[in-house]
Amino acid sequence: MKYQTTAIHGGRQDDSGKGAVNYPLYLSSTFVQDDVEHFKEFVYSRGANPTRASVEKLAADLEGAKYGLAYATGMAATANVFDLLDKGDKVLLNNNVYGGTWRFVSNLFEKRGIQYEVVDSLNDYDFDRIGEDVKLIFVETPSNPLLEITDIRKIAEEAKKHGILVAVDNTFMTSYFQRPLELGADLVVYSATKYYAGHSDLLAGLVVLNDDALYAKLKFFQNTTGGVLSPFDSFLLARGIKTLGVRLDRHQYNARRIAEYLENHDAAERVFYPGLKSNPGYELHKKQASGDGGVLSFLFREEGYDLQAFVNSLKLFGFTVSLGGVESLICKPATMTHESYERELQEKIGIRQNLLRLAIGIEDAGDLLEDLEQALRKAKR
Ligand SMILES: Cc1ncc(COP(=O)(O)O)c(C=O)c1O
Repeated sequence: MKYQTTAIHGGRQDDSGKGAVNYPLYLSSTFVQDDVEHFKEFVYSRGANPTRASVEKLAADLEGAKYGLAYATGMAATANVFDLLDKGDKVLLNNNVYGGTWRFVSNLFEKRGIQYEVVDSLNDYDFDRIGEDVKLIFVETPSNPLLEITDIRKIAEEAKKHGILVAVDNTFMTSYFQRPLELGADLVVYSATKYYAGHSDLLAGLVVLNDDALYAKLKFFQNTTGGVLSPFDSFLLARGIKTLGVRLDRHQYNARRIAEYLENHDAAERVFYPGLKSNPGYELHKKQASGDGGVLSFLFREEGYDLQAFVNSLKLFGFTVSLGGVESLICKPATMTHESYERELQEKIGIRQNLLRLAIGIEDAGDLLEDLEQALRKAKR
């Protein structure tokens, strides 16, 4: 089955005998058992719930994987992956990951006795000098917010030689455009709040993987720490996934047009979008992903234009965090999504005060371009 067919026909099928085309919503925290000795598949919803199990299977089916786990948020999913680490372990990360991931690493790792190293370019990392304490490489590609590209296949090959796990935050691409497990990664993490859910109406996280032992550990952590996706949100998430491919094609069509428009506009000092030839990771990204997605960032030229006037003049782009919903949004990473990075580190890695991130929705591309145009006209000094 091709992707968009799996999105609609994958997951668990209705097992209630009623023939519902959608998997039923089981709003039940607990399930009565009929035998004192033998328990059924579902006992208590923190451990497993049928509606959650349905969307977990759907997430796995989408990338031909064995297992999926659904969490209350993307951060709960990432946190459970970090639960795999023990005291004394070390983690490598690329240098611009989502601010919430960075908040976790920079605030909680030390307390847990876990070391970390932020690597400017994992693509050039010298694996011959890697320490035995490195147990996980956490990669976000394209990265948030600078859309930098990391070579998943190369990192996974090197990691395997050293017995290191590779986890990829695939939120920006989704399994529609990029399939890290097929490139050799061990774990894929998603903020399913974004494209999977797609309508800015719920928070969700996913982990997708193939390894039986890793799955058993994560399932144990999921039940133990309790950050599970509710049945209702599982139902909504499955509904969002049905249109994922269709929506992403449109997000991408719009994003490409806007990236090209901005690249030719004086108000943009530089545009960051994986689908632009000017992006340093353009060729590499093309090798490992089948699309470029709907997020782009650009450096706003403040000498000629007033940033505040520009943002305030936009009518269709909501000024707020998040991405992946049907509506277009704009944010300033330095003070919003990536405020957890110290100012100095922001400067070092390129999250400048004039960097704006656009999450392109699925509105009419012409209307979005017109909106940008009129706002830039008003913002011209
Ligand atoms: C790339 C990426 N990973 C993880 C997360 C965290 O997801 P959530 O907000 O669902 O906890 C986000 C949220 O913006 C994100 O952009």
